[in-house]
Amino acid sequence: MTSYGGDALTARVRDRCCELFETEVDIFPVLTGTAANALSIAATHPAAIICHAEAHVQLEELAAAELFSGGKLVPADGANGKLNAEAVAGNLATRPPGNQTLSVTQATEAGTLYTVDELRAVCAVARAHGAAVQMDGARFANAVAALGCAPADVTWRAGVDLLAFGGTKNGTLAAEMIVVFRRELSQVLAPLWHRSGHRLSKMRFVSAQLEAYLDNDLWLRNARHANAAAARLAHAIGSRVDIVRPVEVNVLFVRLAPARAAALRAQGFDFYEWSLFGEDVYRLVTAFDTTDAEVDALAAAMLSA
Ligand SMILES: Cc1ncc(COP(=O)(O)O)c(C=O)c1O
Repeated sequence: MTSYGGDALTARVRDRCCELFETEVDIFPVLTGTAANALSIAATHPAAIICHAEAHVQLEELAAAELFSGGKLVPADGANGKLNAEAVAGNLATRPPGNQTLSVTQATEAGTLYTVDELRAVCAVARAHGAAVQMDGARFANAVAALGCAPADVTWRAGVDLLAFGGTKNGTLAAEMIVVFRRELSQVLAPLWHRSGHRLSKMRFVSAQLEAYLDNDLWLRNARHANAAAARLAHAIGSRVDIVRPVEVNVLFVRLAPARAAALRAQGFDFYEWSLFGEDVYRLVTAFDTTDAEVDALAAAMLSA
């Protein structure tokens, strides 16, 4: 069978993921990060989905995880976008054990990273309460590039059961995949994937991108480039602009006077306002194709009187 993911390309992507993650995995290509999150969470049959209060699943996906899983999103705290073990333990302890899922984002929506030890700690708390762990890896490549660790170290070896492995923010066009480490969950996920319309008849066109993404570490090279562009920008603006979160991957949150933000937009720079992080805070994201000249032009424009 060459349709619906039964093709050689999709098989090769799975093999490549087994090598990359140093273990046997199943993969489920999907078109969006929202689908990857919702379906991978739903595969764990959660009654409660513990996530950071700033998590994309909580704030930006119109409760897709709840729609698909029937579970309830439960926001928890932690500085700089990261759940801490105490907050997770506090949340899990107030609910009946089992049927709970921890959703952790790496890199976080605040542009920060869980170290391997931090991730192990939150996953260990989840395990102790019998909870599954799903990872929103929309920026997984940026995280691995920045940490310089093995992909396994920040996934299954740390206690992650399923990963929403992002591509779209790092060079693919509507090509993401769910990577399943706890493979018995694949039996639950497979029909959900199909019923949600993500089992494409022409899956090979999505898989072709995923294969190219993984080949010769393109995913990591793209992410390193994007991270370096953010570091260049942070360095160029230095202390002259208020950077309100640590810059650890390809995202900067800066406080700008509204007139300055408007002037930058008038010059063609495009970015979101991020009032979640305070008044006059804006999010600047660099990408796999951001050039040094673009970074330098933005820095100069931000610093000009
Ligand atoms: C952390 C995170 N997770 C998930 C998503 C969802 O991705 P998509 O827009 O492809 O549904 C995004 C998109 O911005 C994101 O930033």
